[in-house]
Amino acid sequence: MKISIVGAGYVGLATGVGFASMGHSVICVDVDAERVRKLNRGEPPIYEPMLEEHLRKALEENRFEATTELGRAIRQSEVIFICVGTPSKSDGSMDPVFIEQASRDIGQAMKDRGGYPVVTVKSTVVPGTTEGVVIPLLERNSGKRAGAGFGVCVNPEFLREGQALSDFFNPDRVIIGELDGRSGDTLHQLYRDFKCPILRTDLKTAEMIKYASNAFLAAKISFINEIGNICKRLGIDVYEVARGMGLDRRISPHFLNAGIGFGGSCFPKDVRALMARARELGYEPRLLEAVMALNEDQPLRLLELLRKHLPDLRGRTIGVLGLAFKPGTDDVREAPSIRIVGELLREGAAVKAYDPKAMDNFRRIFPQLQYCGRAEEVLDSDAVLILTEWEEFRRLDYSGKVVIDGRRIEEARKARVYEGVCW
Ligand code: UDX
Ligand code: UDX
Repeated sequence: MKISIVGAGYVGLATGVGFASMGHSVICVDVDAERVRKLNRGEPPIYEPMLEEHLRKALEENRFEATTELGRAIRQSEVIFICVGTPSKSDGSMDPVFIEQASRDIGQAMKDRGGYPVVTVKSTVVPGTTEGVVIPLLERNSGKRAGAGFGVCVNPEFLREGQALSDFFNPDRVIIGELDGRSGDTLHQLYRDFKCPILRTDLKTAEMIKYASNAFLAAKISFINEIGNICKRLGIDVYEVARGMGLDRRISPHFLNAGIGFGGSCFPKDVRALMARARELGYEPRLLEAVMALNEDQPLRLLELLRKHLPDLRGRTIGVLGLAFKPGTDDVREAPSIRIVGELLREGAAVKAYDPKAMDNFRRIFPQLQYCGRAEEVLDSDAVLILTEWEEFRRLDYSGKVVIDGRRIEEARKARVYEGVCW
């Protein structure tokens, strides 16, 4: 099939390169000309395992192209994915500005074409956005009716950063929200070879499935962190508790790793957006409120433990191992490290940091840190904080050190002083 992807960010690229690898013909459209140039040279603008290999292969086989020319791409595609970002406004609600722009542009480009292109919203949008914002803009700008001149679907992504391509090829499920059967059938065709359940719903149900899934996973993390905070006071190891809980199939062992909380471009933003939408509708989302409040406090617990061992941080050097919001990515968006490092600096500490991938991104926020070329250099400090569970941190020699662990690195338990954030 001929596919266009509007927005070549994490999601757009993983999706585009994924479909190209499956034999489809993909054009990725982005407003960022430098990004487009790089992509056509086979250089992904982000770090994501396997992305570069798949991108290069797709380019060689002429199945992938990046462009800034949206019109040309849209006119020749059977399915058009909207993958632009959905940032938050200051009140936490979703800012539809890029979704609106993409819808207007796609609408314009569909003006003088025939067929039944299916515009598919993959960006995470609050329930009702496709019907209330995307469709009206597509109709107004194309002069065509949804369901007559073009089709519409919502097809949320469940790609984890660092595993985006393997998640793309092996999803647990595919959700197709459809305006009509014809739209849904086209998208279903695209996912024909995937070996997983495919659930077809209406548009806003598909939008909600994405938010409900992320909110549930976020809640699972805050839940185990709360149990961990209680365990810490009782001298119980929350990881053993989680193992015992996870054996219950109704609970499952996944997403029960206690620590300094969740970050990233999705969980915090999506939970806040769902809360804001609920409030607009006159409903107070009390459980989600608690999930976020717990998550905001969790990084600070690590600092409380640090102060127990170093009451005054002024003039001290604190080593930080890991800056990315999780291993396998260079992404630092909403990473707990930002909160922790900010607080360390505010209290007068000097910070030495190391991360195998995320130092360039972190340097843009905190240029004043001492960034180390090797993890070992960070160990030479008054205390070490572990903020991301990179594999290589499991192989360091922590003997003689003071370590406050936010991510459960077993090896660090051999330190002279060891504290886990909630174990
Ligand atoms: C995605 C989803 O779209 C978002 O809804 C979800 O919650 C998280 O994942 P992501 O892929 O991380 O977002 O976005 P980002 O990396 O910001 O990429 C968006 C891309 O779209 C950028 O390359 C940007 O240049 C491009 N863009 C943005 C356009 O091409 N046109 C626009 O009008 C706006
Ligand atoms: C998430 C969703 O998993 C994915 O389906 C969605 O589409 C995008 O958002 P991602 O943000 O890439 O993916 O990361 P994920 O692996 O889900 O982790 C999110 C955060 O939760 C990380 O900061 C991670 O450290 C934290 N986490 C995860 C925990 O603290 N404990 C856990 O047990 C699992």
